[in-house]
Amino acid sequence: MSALFKRAQVTLAGMREVSSVPNNNGYLIELERVSFAYPGGPPVIREFSAGVRRGEFIAVIGPNGSGKSTLAGLAAGLLVPVAGRALVDGLDTAAPAARDEIRLRVGLVLQNPDNQIVAARVEEDIAFGPENLNLSPDQVRRRVEHALGTVGLDRLRDRPPHLLSGGEKQRLAIAGLLALQPSCLVLDEPTAMLDPPDRRGVLRVLRDLAAGGTTVLLVTHHMDEAPLADRVWVLENGALLADDIPPVVFGRPKLLDRLGLALPPAAELARRLAEKGVAVPEGIVQKEDLVRYLCRVLK
Ligand SMILES: Nc1ncnc2c1ncn2[C@@H]1O[C@H](COP(=O)(O)OP(=O)(O)O)[C@@H](O)[C@H]1O
Ligand SMILES: [Mg+2]
Repeated sequence: MSALFKRAQVTLAGMREVSSVPNNNGYLIELERVSFAYPGGPPVIREFSAGVRRGEFIAVIGPNGSGKSTLAGLAAGLLVPVAGRALVDGLDTAAPAARDEIRLRVGLVLQNPDNQIVAARVEEDIAFGPENLNLSPDQVRRRVEHALGTVGLDRLRDRPPHLLSGGEKQRLAIAGLLALQPSCLVLDEPTAMLDPPDRRGVLRVLRDLAAGGTTVLLVTHHMDEAPLADRVWVLENGALLADDIPPVVFGRPKLLDRLGLALPPAAELARRLAEKGVAVPEGIVQKEDLVRYLCRVLK
């Protein structure tokens, strides 16, 4: 499905010039009372309102079936609300005329790394998108080089993608999207099928991109990934239950417990230490912060 999507994305994009868009109050993605139902089914996203600001990194968490993937599809313009509005860069995803542009502006990475490959060599796979954008060969080459470097696949440029590890394939998928110079990346559990070292590699890339100002919407069921984000959206049954910075969201263990969601490991350890009477500062969600605190007090 996604390889087809990738082809459609770039083929359509090649046919039209991308026009400039109105400034949208700093919001790159805006969901205004968005509802969504699959054909013949009940609503699975219900009156969902939230926004992603330019340069922001949002993590989306929630139980299985709470609507995370559907939300990713709505944010990427792949799915269109049945009620309410979804705007990307000020463009309404429901407007047929805007759809091709939206697909260029939002890159969507899916869970299965095998579904996103279109070419026989890494370099060619990344070039596939820009080659369909009426760019000069030189511009294409520069975009490919930049994308290769960003995801750290320079040394594997000649490798057939099917010989890559899962994590390398996901980094390749990200590179292919970056070569289209999107405004935003939406990733639906991109590390779900990866082993820990591959997972770390993908997260490192996401961290670097976010630090460099790329807007990121990351759906994840790995609780240790959520604290990397600026804000966390918590979904339950298609509705937004919480939208806050990680220390606040993970400072509500009862809410997460009710949803069957764990705390990030560092937050869990901090909580247990606090229960034992250790004066752990509140709001610890990242391993690095906990390690720093423990090193200080254990000295
Ligand atoms: N293609 C589809 N057709 C019909 N129902 C779907 C489809 N995809 C998901 N659903 C339903 O929509 C709800 C939300 O699913 P999803 O967005 O995949 O949640 P999550 O990603 O949080 O697990 C679930 O009840 C699921 O069964
Ligand atoms: Mg899902």
